[in-house]
Amino acid sequence: MSDSILRFENISKTFPGVKALKNISFEIHRGDVHVLLGENGAGKSTLIKILTGVYQADEGGTIYLNGAPVKIHDTLQSRKLGIGTVFQENSLIPHLNVAENVFLTRELRNASGTIDWKRTYTECERWISELGVTHIDPHAQVRKLSVADQQIVEIIKVFSQNPSIVILDEPTSSLSDNEISNLFRIIETLKKTGVTFIYVSHRMEEIKQIGDRATVFRDGELTGEIENCKTADMDQIINMIVGRTLEEKFPHRESRIGDVMFEVKDIQVPDTIYDISFTLRKGEVLGFSGLVGSGRTSTAKAIIGAIPRTSGEIFINGQKVKVTNPAEAIANGIGYLPEDRKTEGLILTKSVKENISLPSLQRKFKRGFILDGKKERDAAEEYRDKLRIKTPGINRLSKFLSGGNQQKVVFAKWLCSEASIYIFDEPTRGIDVGAKSEIYQIINNLVGQGAAVIVISSELPEILGICDRVIVMRDGRITANIDRADATQEKIMSYSI
Ligand SMILES: Nc1ncnc2c1ncn2[C@@H]1O[C@H](COP(=O)(O)OP(=O)(O)OP(=O)(O)O)[C@@H](O)[C@H]1O
Ligand SMILES: [Mg+2]
Repeated sequence: MSDSILRFENISKTFPGVKALKNISFEIHRGDVHVLLGENGAGKSTLIKILTGVYQADEGGTIYLNGAPVKIHDTLQSRKLGIGTVFQENSLIPHLNVAENVFLTRELRNASGTIDWKRTYTECERWISELGVTHIDPHAQVRKLSVADQQIVEIIKVFSQNPSIVILDEPTSSLSDNEISNLFRIIETLKKTGVTFIYVSHRMEEIKQIGDRATVFRDGELTGEIENCKTADMDQIINMIVGRTLEEKFPHRESRIGDVMFEVKDIQVPDTIYDISFTLRKGEVLGFSGLVGSGRTSTAKAIIGAIPRTSGEIFINGQKVKVTNPAEAIANGIGYLPEDRKTEGLILTKSVKENISLPSLQRKFKRGFILDGKKERDAAEEYRDKLRIKTPGINRLSKFLSGGNQQKVVFAKWLCSEASIYIFDEPTRGIDVGAKSEIYQIINNLVGQGAAVIVISSELPEILGICDRVIVMRDGRITANIDRADATQEKIMSYSI
């Protein structure tokens, strides 16, 4: 008999207009890293939220924990059952510091019952050094941390609860390679002590690296089970996920590169980025590589005026332009897809349609004050199809979409704005394998039509797969500018560290 720690039997979940899970039955073995796979909107996070008591499953299903049926009413109860969860959405309190967040609601106390701050900070520091993230200060306010560091604090918070089941919903989407390998090392160590992991990721290489068994979902149904991730055939897994054969991960493009279209001269942001100068040509895809924190996002933000720069000039087609805030960037045809879509890219309480049309309202959809509703709807439908955004309709509020589908909405919004220069910051983060290659195709089409594109990406295969040229950054400076023909992973890495 297998040693199953968790068993799902006939689990279904219905939301208004959506059947997110349909009669799901499978089991998870003790001490495994069990990977949940599936396209954006397949139902992975919904299953996790049922297990953690955020949602209740429909009538008729049962969850067995250690062989006994359990009813999980809320998150507190799930935690008492030994389940620790790093959710896809950030759940930290921004104005509290790192250590306060880690021990929130389970403060360490000394004999007299007062909070033991000394132990709180040393415990926190112990995890910080285990994860190899000593740049994080336990006293730092969480809202001042980068997306990646906030993600790490979430992980520390969960690991420090000593759970017997750890759920990680896309934990690595914003982490650097180094942080990912530290995380994997800790997972391996905890596995040996019998901890079980449920792991969600769209990064295919991680399935083999960390996974033992896997379950594949499509449209709320269980469509495949993988008994051994280490020996599984990758193409077959991708087929199970997308339900069709994926021809080319990186679709081919004939580069047709024209004159310099965009130029940045000597951009500075004190203590952040220094002497940033580069050119971008018509029809060119320029990659920005570097470690997390190397200054790529700050460069993008300084260009569009989202953070103030102390010097620097921007030229479009040889003409100097004034771009000191994001509105001026849009007006000059520069579109920026931010890396942190949740807080910067999307208005969760607005519909899919409104989000898509937002930056283009004045230019495309309005005549004076009158909105051309049909044109707006048609455009939203067009991008919903192009990007396969999974939603019952374009009037659905964005907050009801799955994480990856929200990302697609932000992507659609910038495509719809019809800029001539695009800066995409981690464009495929959290996006499923099938949609990734569609996004690459869209980038190809954009440059084919004469746009120029900058792609900031932490995934080297992506940089090498889609870019004509690569700029590498380290510690706020450009360290290399390499043509695709001369670029290799090793070469890029050597300029990154
Ligand atoms: N609170 C909600 N209200 C309405 N619909 C929801 C809600 N939460 C999820 N859904 C829908 O349920 C389906 C499954 O979503 P879920 O978040 O589980 O997907 P996922 O597999 O985690 O996707 P991703 O990889 O994009 O994170 C989607 O169609 C989503 O729109
Ligand atoms: Mg999800």
